[in-house]
Amino acid sequence: MSKIHAAITAVHGYVPDYVLTNKELETLVDTNDEWITSRTGIKERRILKGEGLGTSDLAVPAVEALLKKRGITANDLDLIIFCTTTPDRVFPATANILADKIGAKNAWGYDLQAACSGFLFGLATGSQFIESGKHKKVLVVGGDKMSSITNYQDRATCIIFGDGCGAVLLEPNDEGNGIIDSILKSDGSGVAYLHQKAGGSIKPASHETVDAREHYAYQEGQAVFKFAVTNMADVAAEVMERNDLKSEDIAWLVPHQANKRIIDATANRTGVSADKVIINIERYGNTTNGTIPLCLWEWESKFKKGDNLILAAFGGGFTWGSIYLKWAY
Ligand code: UT7
Repeated sequence: MSKIHAAITAVHGYVPDYVLTNKELETLVDTNDEWITSRTGIKERRILKGEGLGTSDLAVPAVEALLKKRGITANDLDLIIFCTTTPDRVFPATANILADKIGAKNAWGYDLQAACSGFLFGLATGSQFIESGKHKKVLVVGGDKMSSITNYQDRATCIIFGDGCGAVLLEPNDEGNGIIDSILKSDGSGVAYLHQKAGGSIKPASHETVDAREHYAYQEGQAVFKFAVTNMADVAAEVMERNDLKSEDIAWLVPHQANKRIIDATANRTGVSADKVIINIERYGNTTNGTIPLCLWEWESKFKKGDNLILAAFGGGFTWGSIYLKWAY
């Protein structure tokens, strides 16, 4: 009997309507379009506006469209893994909130926190439930309302982040397509360089933490850049070597969209040519857990059954990893 792989059988995404341009950021902080474009590749990002809206509200339209596309209902889902760094609330899990909003009565779910690598960690863990035979339909959602933890007085971070969400459905595949291999890594010493100072159990919210603007993403950009640029490239190369894949075997490289320069370094290290590297950072910025599923969604029509895809990410934690999958449809 051939091995069962977990294959992506549907993908969809959603970005909110509001476009925050580099020009508008020039009115908020001391920056300019030329600096942002040359240092990051970002031109604009999307922002979820409106009272009382959270990350689950980015997921609902993405997931509803995905279900429609696949011709199933929310009640067909067995498990929802919601990869996010900006959950609706500290608890309960956004996966539960999403299940309620879409009417998934038969699914259990949990949130997964691995910062910008979260979607890859979610794919890898979700695939285990399919491979083991435990579940037939696992929804992996990657999304963030990064504007909720972005300090629009800090020019070093507010230019990077945006809001967005994507989702994929994992189902069993016995044709040899689906998730073939993954290498996932973490190094907790990276906490110093990228974190949220307050709001967790170590420093609960108080008047002081709010006044000190400690509920926003804090990043030492250069330090993170150095780790990201080598580790994301190395792990992508490692997963290719382990699976005897040469650059010409790769149909698409799908990198986390944090900085165009990090994407270029990963492309160079793996030898994948520019026309096969998926990039939409100029329109969405860094949507954290949303970047990779949004790329898959936007490029879906170009993928062919059996295409070799290499996904790679790096994020806070530090966390990083790469997944090799064969597109299934
Ligand atoms: O996705 C999760 C992981 N995160 C990442 O992968 C992000 C990794 N880091 C980066 O992408 C980059 O470090 C940044 C885009 C955040 C910053 O780019 P950089 O080339 O590392 O700039 P820098 O922090 O070294 O700053 C260079 C200069 C500084 O000025 P001085 O000290 O040289 O006078 C900054 O104050 O640029 C200044 N600067 C800015 N100038 C204009 C920093 N931010 C801005 C800005 N506009 N927005």
